[in-house]
This record gives sequence, C-alpha cells and structure tokens, in this order.
Amino acid sequence: MSKKLYIETYGCQMNFSDSEIVASVMTDHQYSTTDNHKEADVIFLNTCSIRDNAEQKVLNRLKQLQPLRREKPGLIIGVLGCMAERLKDALLEENELGMRVDMVVGPDAYRDLPQLMPDAESGHKAINIILSSEETYADITPVRYASNGVTAFISIMRGCQNFCSYCVVPFTRGKERSRDPRTIVSEARQLFEAGYREISLLGQNVNSYFWEGEEMGKATGFPELLEMVAGVSPLLRIRFATSHPKDMSDALLQVISRNPNICRAIHLPMQSGSTSVLKRMNRKYTREEYMDRIEAIRQTLPGCAISTDIIAGFCGETPEEHQDTLDMMEWAGFDFAFMFKYSEREGTLAAKKYKDDIPEEEKTRRLQEIIKLQQRLSLKSNKADVGTTVEVLVEGLSKRSSAHVSGRSSHNKVVVFPDKGYKPGDYVKVRINSCTAATLLGEELEN
Ligand code: 5AD
Ligand code: SF4
Repeated sequence: MSKKLYIETYGCQMNFSDSEIVASVMTDHQYSTTDNHKEADVIFLNTCSIRDNAEQKVLNRLKQLQPLRREKPGLIIGVLGCMAERLKDALLEENELGMRVDMVVGPDAYRDLPQLMPDAESGHKAINIILSSEETYADITPVRYASNGVTAFISIMRGCQNFCSYCVVPFTRGKERSRDPRTIVSEARQLFEAGYREISLLGQNVNSYFWEGEEMGKATGFPELLEMVAGVSPLLRIRFATSHPKDMSDALLQVISRNPNICRAIHLPMQSGSTSVLKRMNRKYTREEYMDRIEAIRQTLPGCAISTDIIAGFCGETPEEHQDTLDMMEWAGFDFAFMFKYSEREGTLAAKKYKDDIPEEEKTRRLQEIIKLQQRLSLKSNKADVGTTVEVLVEGLSKRSSAHVSGRSSHNKVVVFPDKGYKPGDYVKVRINSCTAATLLGEELEN
C-alpha cells in the first residue's frame, strides 16, 4: 500500500510549481498525495524566506503540527524550499525552536527525496541543502495534484543572480540557469492536450532566460521562447512572471503584440519610484528608465494591464523618496500591485551595508498610504472596463455563489458572471456591467 504524502506550499508561484515536482518524484516512489494532513504519513512544508512574516507563519504551522505525532507514530515532517536553505541549523536543533523537523531539503535537492526517506523513517535527520548550478528538473513531469485542470505553471528557469540588496532569493535558490526550450514547449503541448487552456511561464527574472544549445541552431532568448510556446495553439493562453525592468526588451513587446493568445498583462516590479532608493536596492535602473519601459508597453500594447511590486520603508527612505513612489504609482496607474513593508533578511547586501532605520510604525503608515492609493487605482482601472466586453477563460464556480462562474480576462482580472452550464476551460465573451476594486461582474454577451 502506498504511503500518503501531504504538501503545504508557502510563498511564490515558483514554489507551487516546485511542489508539483516534489509530488512527481514522490509518486514515482510508492507515495500518493492526499489533501488531508490528518491522514498523511509524510508532511512536507514547502517554505518561503522572503520576509520575516513568511517564515513566522511556517514556524507556527510546524508547532501546530507536532501533536499529530502522538496520533501517528512514525509521522515524518519535512521542511523544503527556501527556509531549508536559510535555516538548516536552527530547524534541526529541536530545543532552539521547540519543535521537531525530520527532514530539511533545499530547492535543488528534490530528486534526492526518495533516497532520503529511509533515513528520516529510521529516526535520523535527513538533510540535503546542496544548491546546484545545473538542476532544472527539465525531465520531470510535474504532478498537478491541486489543479483546476485549466491553468498550470511551467518553470522555465531557476535561481537568480541579480542580488537586489534586500532579497534573500539568490542565497536560497542559487545561480540562475535556464531549462532546455524543447522540454518547455513539449510540456506546454502535453498540458494543452490534457485540456489545460492557460499556462504561466515562471522564473525569478524571465527576461534573462537564455539557452545556447547547438541543437536549436541558434541561441534562444525569452522572446523566442515565448513565441514558440504561443505557437502550441491559439486556444492556449500564455502568461509569464516575473520581468525585471532592466531586461525587458522591445523585442519581447513585439512578440506579445503579434500573438493574441499571450495575455495583455505584464507584471513589472517597480519596488520604489525613487532613483536614489533604487540605487540602494541595487535594482540597476532609474525612475526614468522604469518610466521608459511603461511608455514602451503603452505604445506597443495599448490597453495592456500593468501590475507591480512595491516595498515601503526601505533603509534610509526619506519622506521625499516615499512620495516619489506614490507619484510614480499615480503616473503609471497600475492595475494591480503587491505591496510590502521592508523586512531585513540576514546575509543580504542591504543587511550588511545599510541600517534598517525606518521605525515599524512609520513603515506601516507608508504601506497604508501605498495600499490606499492602489485601491483607488485598481477601482479606476476596473471602472474603465465597465461597458466593455472581455473574453473570459472559465476556471470554475464562483467561490461566493454556485449560480455564478469565475474566470480571468486577458488583463488578469477576475470576472464573475451567471453560470449557463459552462465547463472549466470554456472561453466566454462577457459584457462587464459593474465592478469592485477586486472583481469585474458581468454576463455573457448574446449575439
Ligand atoms: N522585504 C520586503 N519585501 C521584499 N520583497 C523581496 N524581498 C523583500 C524584503 N526583504 C518583495 C519584492 C519582490 C517580491 C516578490 O517580494 O517586492 O518583488
Ligand atoms: Fe519565497 Fe523567494 Fe523562495 Fe519564492 S524564491 S519561496 S518568494 S524566498
């Protein structure tokens, strides 16, 4: 009988994609997945280290899970992902955190999981946190164990070596490496044939994707890869994340413009609207260069949605520098944003070089100001869609009402409308009648 594996994923889309690799490796070795942690023989938490609160969440969860050991002697609890890399020693030291972890496995060691299981099962701690400069898991077919059957992620590269000064990722995920484009296209094709209708190509910085295999005849950059994947079928929608503004080329925008199935939504993390803060963040672009990229998007892809990431209260941020961020948000009119308070991460360039000197209350105040402004901008963006017709890819029933279905527009906006017996994966033309800051509401356009 197979043993039951339960995986809980924290952090970014990349981590969700990694959990599907983990599921694949484990289901090839006598494990089957379950969505109920109470019946699991093995519990993996695939963790995130990006901010302190992400780590605290996982530590609390680990504490909460400990009593399960009484009901299930032999239960294995493993920490995978970025926290495994960053906190190996503390995680293995039971007394320090008041909890027991049986396995600590970093993001490049998932192939080794089956070999590590016997160690963990015999009461020894199982550890592998070696980072690789080559591993891309290109030959592993992910198991889409928590999928809606319509949308899926494909990792096209791993790691990051931009060394933004605030960021822990280059330390937890190692060097940047790209995956063979042929394996990416064939994974996309398989997904399409299995009924999937939207894929998101993932990497920490997709714009620096690069494959120089002789087999391909020439080098493949991200624009070429994107066009190859878009060619799988006009009925397959393509998204991608994340783009670094310093590397987002006009060639990429041209590829999007010639392929209607590449979604009109670009995620372009700004982080700050102030050139001096961007310099301290080691982002390698100025405020003006960021504006130039936004203008290029607007020119080549009129109406394209633009979303962003913003950090409030970075080291030494003056009130004027904060105001620059607010002004830039207003100027760019972002459709959506992820907004965070700066959280110092040990070992990063910022932790070594700058003082984390903005008081917590002031960080909170600045973040609130940013959130409030973004709410206004998101509402404005959604209001502009009222009266228009958008094509929606149906993902399933609406969470709030079983008489409605929910899906996304090309702009990546959630659209809810009355169900007329649609199936997940259907494309429906929806006329937008009203909205909130987070959702568009409408009904099918009758011909
Ligand atoms: N503190 C706060 N936010 C951070 N991010 C990355 N590192 C930190 C940090 N130390 C944010 C950035 C990034 C997003 C994924 O998380 O905005 O784009
Ligand atoms: Fe979190 Fe970054 Fe690791 Fe993703 S790569 S899990 S966001 S720390």
